[in-house]
Amino acid sequence: MRTVLVLNGPNLGRLGSREPDVYGSADLAQLRTLLVAAAPEDVTIDVRQTDDEAELIHWLYEAVDNAHPVILNPAAFTHYSYALRDAAALVTKAGIPLVEVHISNPHARETFRHTSVVSAIATGVIAGFGFDSYRLALDYIVRTP
Ligand code: DQA
Repeated sequence: MRTVLVLNGPNLGRLGSREPDVYGSADLAQLRTLLVAAAPEDVTIDVRQTDDEAELIHWLYEAVDNAHPVILNPAAFTHYSYALRDAAALVTKAGIPLVEVHISNPHARETFRHTSVVSAIATGVIAGFGFDSYRLALDYIVRTP
């Protein structure tokens, strides 16, 4: 059984009610349902969310220690957290896929969102497709041995 960690950063626990014009009206429970339905039977989907940078970093260590592929929406940490980037680099340097995802297209938004300090060490980046950004990342991960 393979486990995919789906890690979500700050304020994503408010999906459903947070800026629905930008992020839609579905919540994390619905994201989990969508991904479980899309995953093959032998893949476990573990969706988590935290507002805490340290907790997110420790989950990335867990991914390294257990060789779990990661779908990471770093949320606002995307734009400035070098600590998160360094932890995410541990994942990809270990040869484990880590796909950075965004619900919105940050490049079509405020200038501060145009920079990601994570993208350069991610396996790939998918943004702007709503929850389908996660589903597309999962498609890639399940096809990667
Ligand atoms: C986000 C985009 C970020 O700029 C923002 O801070 C978020 C969500 C997205 O999924 O579109 O919290 O990562």
